[in-house]
Amino acid sequence: MGKNPVVPYLLIFALGIGLIFFMSLYGLDQKKEIASQNDDGKTEETTDSAEFDAEAVAQGKCIGCHGGDLSGGMGPGLVGTSLSKDDIKAIVKDGKGTMPAQGITDDAELDAMADYILSLK
Ligand code: HEC
Repeated sequence: MGKNPVVPYLLIFALGIGLIFFMSLYGLDQKKEIASQNDDGKTEETTDSAEFDAEAVAQGKCIGCHGGDLSGGMGPGLVGTSLSKDDIKAIVKDGKGTMPAQGITDDAELDAMADYILSLK
């Protein structure tokens, strides 16, 4: 009965735990770096949504169903609509019938989109 045969395993075990601990510290450091990069990215995104271009978004999202000039396709024409601004905002935000919600939830953006639709003649 000399050395406990388990001791070398315990040493390796402790070493492993130590390694994991140091790696997670290193990871936290990287996480901070990534987080600060994201902060920069967010500033840019905020600028983008301040410059929300309803016409460009409509070209991207709406014309597939409402026609190239939004005068009607498989969805009804939007030119000269009799809907109120709030109705349009609600439809764009939540969808209506077979029209899916359009993924625009920011009130200022919904506002801009409704204004754009109402400006169509
Ligand atoms: C997947 C096809 C589809 C897309 C994309 C789509 N719509 Fe529609 N939209 C429809 C359909 C279909 C209706 C009719 C729904 C009903 O009355 O049941 C409709 C109805 C509407 C109405 C109500 C019109 C009325 O006179 O009742 C508005 C306003 C409208 N859409 C705006 C938009 C805007 C703005 C976009 C882009 C941001 C958009 N839609 C994208 C299919 C679509």
